[in-house]
Amino acid sequence: MALDRALIFLGPPGAGKGTQAKQIAQSCGVPHLSTGDMFRDAVSRGTDLGRQVKPIMERGELVPDDMVMKLVEERLARPDCAHGFVFDGFPRTIAQATALDGILARRGFGKPLVIDLAVSADMLMRRLTGRRTCSVGGEIYNVYDAPPKTPDVCDVDGGRLVQRSDDRPEVVTERLAAYERQTRPLTDYYRRQGVLDAVDASASVEEVGRALREILKSVKS
Ligand code: AP5
Repeated sequence: MALDRALIFLGPPGAGKGTQAKQIAQSCGVPHLSTGDMFRDAVSRGTDLGRQVKPIMERGELVPDDMVMKLVEERLARPDCAHGFVFDGFPRTIAQATALDGILARRGFGKPLVIDLAVSADMLMRRLTGRRTCSVGGEIYNVYDAPPKTPDVCDVDGGRLVQRSDDRPEVVTERLAAYERQTRPLTDYYRRQGVLDAVDASASVEEVGRALREILKSVKS
């Protein structure tokens, strides 16, 4: 399935953006661009950027727009982004969305396709506090709803499963508040541009994936 555009997953923390974005990017043969993963990588490597963003992420706040846009512009300049890409966790503010519009126009891409993953707040808390991620390949699990075959061990590569430090309940509360304050307005921004679709992301991973593939098929035809 070719993409040839930017696909953007909107939705609150824990909506399933990473779970779905990885699969869709793989099936379209384009990169999965998670700004959260890029920042976590910088933190674990102890780079200057990592040292700057670590306390911000640990408080559950958003990283300043200029730092995000620098990271995204550099990533989009790589050759693997020539035929489209799937964003997960970006854009997250109106300023980021406006800057992205400019980048896409300069790079010869049309309007993005934006999909909002909608889930209730109580379900989000369960998904986030139950999430475990493989420390080797990044595979995502959930101790309640999608556990690994052996506790704390990745089914795919045997890596150790870890809990994100921002998945503690008090940080999750701040992340959800930051979403409401700064990111929710993007749904109106993209609705006005006529590029927004929505999917009920409280359904199972498989059902959400099916709904997403239907949207992509209808956009292509
Ligand atoms: P980021 O890493 O982007 O986190 P997030 O947006 O808060 O989203 P999550 O990764 O927590 O959730 P998700 O929707 O991807 O859900 P997942 O698929 O993992 O950002 C982290 C931080 O980085 C931010 O707080 C900020 O500080 C900074 N940052 C990053 N980008 C930024 C930007 N653009 N601007 C400013 N700051 C930025 O699923 C969650 C769990 O649910 C898993 O356990 C999964 O197995 C389970 N699950 C998923 N789907 C289903 C389903 N359908 N049914 C049952 N369980 C499911």
